[in-house]
Amino acid sequence: MRPMSRFCLDRFLADCAQAPGSRLRAVRRLLKTAIADPDAIEACFAGEEAEEKLLCRAPNLTIVHVRLSPNVRFPPHDHAMLSLIGSYRGHELHRFFRRESRVLRSSGEAYLREGDVLVLPPNAIHSVANPSRIRTAAIHIYLGDLVGTPRSIWNPDTSARVPYSDFDYFRWCRPEDPDRPFERPALCDAHAQVNSAQSAGTNGEDA
Ligand SMILES: [Fe+2]
Repeated sequence: MRPMSRFCLDRFLADCAQAPGSRLRAVRRLLKTAIADPDAIEACFAGEEAEEKLLCRAPNLTIVHVRLSPNVRFPPHDHAMLSLIGSYRGHELHRFFRRESRVLRSSGEAYLREGDVLVLPPNAIHSVANPSRIRTAAIHIYLGDLVGTPRSIWNPDTSARVPYSDFDYFRWCRPEDPDRPFERPALCDAHAQVNSAQSAGTNGEDA
C-alpha cells in the first residue's frame, strides 16, 4: 500500500524558507528529496495547468511550479541570483550563453531528466525548452526575490537585451522544432499572481 502524505507542499515551502547553514546545500537536498517521488509531488499539483505558478515569494526565496508545453522554447534570460531547478516529469533542455560585446554566444547545454537538480550561478544566462511531446513538470527555486529583482531577457531574434518582463518572456517563446505542432502557452504574470494572492487574503510574500 502506498504510504500517505509523502510530499506536503506546505512543509516543503516551510523547510526551504527555514533552511539553515549553507542554504544552497540545504535547499538542494530538500529539492532532491521532493522530486525523488514524482508520483507524490505530481498528486499534489493535480489539475495545475499553468505554465508557471508562483508558490512562494519572500525577500530571500522564490519558488515556482513550472510546466513546459510540448515543443516550447523560452528566450534567454538571467535570474541575477542562485537558482535550483528540479525536474520530476519529462525532460528540460537548458541552453547556456555568455555575453560577448552585444551578442550572446552559446556556452553549452544541460539535459534535465526526472529526478535531476540543476544549480545555476547568479550570472548564468539560459534558455529552457521542452523538446518532447508531453508537458514537463518541475520545481524552480530562486535564493532571492525573483519577482522584485531587476534582471535581463534577450530577444531571440535580434539578441537585444532588455529589462526582464513576463510579457516578453511569453511573447518571445518559439517552437523548439519548427516542423512540429506548437501551441503558444498563455502568459503567466508573477506580479499578477502576487496581487491576486494578496487580494484574496493569502499573503503571497509570507510562505
Ligand atoms: Fe530561468
